[in-house]
Amino acid sequence: MIRPIVMYGSPILRQKALPVEPGDKRLPNLIQDLWDTMYNAQGIGLAAPQIGILLRVFVIDVSGSKNPEEPPLREVFINPRLIALEAQRTPYEEGCLSIPGLRERIYRPSGVEIEYYDANFRLKRGRFTGMAARAIQHEYDHLEGRLFIDYLSPLRRQLLRAKLREIAAGRVEAAYPTTL
Ligand code: NI
Repeated sequence: MIRPIVMYGSPILRQKALPVEPGDKRLPNLIQDLWDTMYNAQGIGLAAPQIGILLRVFVIDVSGSKNPEEPPLREVFINPRLIALEAQRTPYEEGCLSIPGLRERIYRPSGVEIEYYDANFRLKRGRFTGMAARAIQHEYDHLEGRLFIDYLSPLRRQLLRAKLREIAAGRVEAAYPTTL
């Protein structure tokens, strides 16, 4: 089911999400709702807090990448644990479905190693680079109550303050259902 996406300004996006217990009856519906909501908004990743559920789950689909060197990735990440981040950082114009209309250049580690449970609660471990690494770090941050704008310089944040206030006031239109 398509759920409204929680907008910047909501305290939900600043809270730390809780681990999922194995056998949690809410999990299958939560995963389906994340996929439905993400695809409807044409996103490449979505974390459970963004649909108002404070559980440590996110989904990523970067299978549409145009770079043939990047392997496709469509995966559910439950209770993820970051194991290693590459020292080298790369910039990218990052956006977030909870902060519509804003894209900013953010530097992040270009590779990540992560351990997590998949949709069937099987323990997995993987190393990712490119868009997958970017999306994993962005979505993982959502589980910690962090947003990509937290990485901006104080000056840049100051310049964007009015725009962010508009989003938080519900005055910015998105092409998908939203909630504050
Ligand atoms: Ni986001």
